Amino acid sequence: MPKQKFLKLIEEQRKGKKVSRFEGTLLDYLDVVNKDPSIIQLSHRRLCNVIEEWGVYDMPDTDPRKRKIFDGENIKLFKYFEKEFFGMENVISKIMRFLHAASLKGEESRQVLLLMGPVGAGKSALTEHIKKSLDGISYYHIKGDPQRGEPLHLIPRALRSKFEKLLNVKIEGDISPVARHILLNELDGEYEKFPIIETTFSQRARRGIASVPPMDANSQDVSVLIGSEDISKLDKYPEDDPRVLSLNGAFNVGNRGIVEMIEIFKNEIEFLHTVITATQEKRIPSPGKNDLIYFDGVIIAHCNEAEWNRFRSEHTNEAILDRIVKIEVPYVLEIDEEIKIYEKFLEGSEFTAHIAPHTLRVVSMFSVLSRLKQSQKCDLLTKMKIYNGEEVIEKGRVKKIDIKDLREETRNEGMSGISTRFIMKSIDAALSDSEKNMVTPVSIMDALVKQVKEQVVDEEFRKTCLELIQKVVREEYLRVLENEIAKAFVAAYEEQAQALFDNYLDNAEAYATHQKLKDRVTKEEMVPDEAFLKSIEEQIGISGSSKDGFRSDVTAYMFAKMRRGAKVNYKSYEPLKEAIEGYLIGSVKDMARIVTKSKTRDDEQQKKYGDMVRTLIEEYGYNENSAEEIITFASNNLWRDS
Ligand SMILES: Nc1ncnc2c1ncn2[C@@H]1O[C@H](COP(=O)(O)OP(=O)(O)OP(=O)(O)O)[C@@H](O)[C@H]1O
Ligand SMILES: [Mg+2]
Repeated sequence: MPKQKFLKLIEEQRKGKKVSRFEGTLLDYLDVVNKDPSIIQLSHRRLCNVIEEWGVYDMPDTDPRKRKIFDGENIKLFKYFEKEFFGMENVISKIMRFLHAASLKGEESRQVLLLMGPVGAGKSALTEHIKKSLDGISYYHIKGDPQRGEPLHLIPRALRSKFEKLLNVKIEGDISPVARHILLNELDGEYEKFPIIETTFSQRARRGIASVPPMDANSQDVSVLIGSEDISKLDKYPEDDPRVLSLNGAFNVGNRGIVEMIEIFKNEIEFLHTVITATQEKRIPSPGKNDLIYFDGVIIAHCNEAEWNRFRSEHTNEAILDRIVKIEVPYVLEIDEEIKIYEKFLEGSEFTAHIAPHTLRVVSMFSVLSRLKQSQKCDLLTKMKIYNGEEVIEKGRVKKIDIKDLREETRNEGMSGISTRFIMKSIDAALSDSEKNMVTPVSIMDALVKQVKEQVVDEEFRKTCLELIQKVVREEYLRVLENEIAKAFVAAYEEQAQALFDNYLDNAEAYATHQKLKDRVTKEEMVPDEAFLKSIEEQIGISGSSKDGFRSDVTAYMFAKMRRGAKVNYKSYEPLKEAIEGYLIGSVKDMARIVTKSKTRDDEQQKKYGDMVRTLIEEYGYNENSAEEIITFASNNLWRDS
């Protein structure tokens, strides 16, 4: 591009950026407030509003997760978090409930919000996202004030109640020592002339958003929180002169917005006392000899469980504990949501590699399983499926285990186990080991084993992890794979399944109502085809006397659905779907085995094999290399005993 064009681009952007922002005196500002009193907001209210303005809605009844995961409870969803965070609805709604209560000036507005959870559960990411919501939002402040204080604080106490009535707002707080100095020395106390400006919150420019990293005891210095005295100015001005102050600590910068305390309990106790004063008194110490300074901000801290427990066990920390609202941020325990985390990672990265079907499911099964506690009611895999909202079929029925009972059985579930970061590292490792720029369930299982051996130190947990990968996940994957390959052998799978379904339903209905059925084509009357019904039912272990119940259940279920105007298909009723799939897959099983395993194929077999591979690639999302890899894996590991 020629220079001219670059310049044009730059100038255009600059013009676009220049929105006119308010600049005037306090008197002008009063006019602004008079027109729109809603601009007067304390920090919690502003943050709450900014996030809610993105949209809040109830999880719709049509969302299957509402019934299956949340037990029908009303779940509020916040659009602001939706695209970035998965399976965290409960955590997010707790955070929002805190902000909401605090914005009504409840006790919460004087508390530290603490996110506590295991590594890689998303605490930092959540806090970062919350901070980002303020970025670019406009607010007004006293010009030249390092605290960027609310301009109405300039109004003297004696006049406040009058102004509050006139403007229909509440005025809470006082000006900083710096602003006071300017007022008295440069403006002769004529506060109505004090310059006021409008600006925006900005994390990078340190306006209204501040972050305090953990510090070791030696280098720890409260100036990070409250600023310091500028020694070079101390010989120019007296010690208590505000002009010596450098108010650039986190609580100065974060006034009116957010102060984040990263890994809060890694800090010394003295440090924490400042934090507590800031919330409880809404005041922070000033460096040197000045008075306390008014502070209004949302304080968000995070830590992990070990730090929390250590801190909590110390008797002397009680006062601080009392001023903390703790929200637990556990790992995700729903594999479908866990998968979305990795999809997000991969989308946001430079990753161009091929990810074979089921790969992310395999890793997510492993991470979720590693986080679950054993249940008395079922095995771990079943528990994982129920937590994922899946229906587990047993003896032709949906297994009746209440997700709530499972949850109540344990405490602290999701607070330990394999982290999201561990999984990402494994995906990276699998990719860098791959010569074909792909990751498959097979290669990821190898990578997981390797990572566990290298990184998991705890002997017991390492054993558990290896068993999960090499037994539970692997066997579950083999089941999926066997079905997938068999399915790929069935030409026009969906249509065949639907035809079987229609046929089954006709026969079962006739059977259940003791009637004959009409052939769909010839209109001939026939008795229900018992052999056919049985061949479907036996797929899910229904035989003998249980068949009557099953047939009338299916019929009743389908007709109830149809009466409500819902369309039914072979997937409508989980037990029947499983039976039909089993039937179809069973019908090609032997062929699948022979054709896949054999080293030499005749023409007919070669064609079938070719069709199957094509289906895997064109319909199921494999590429040539990944299809080859999983087929090899299947022929080495499946169909062993036949
Ligand atoms: N439920 C989730 N939804 C979306 N992303 C998630 C979720 N859980 C974790 N992540 C992602 O995992 C990564 C690691 O999370 P983060 O760094 O926030 O963890 P953390 O809880 O702060 O851990 P640590 O204690 O190690 O600091 C982030 O990129 C985050 O976006
Ligand atoms: Mg973190």
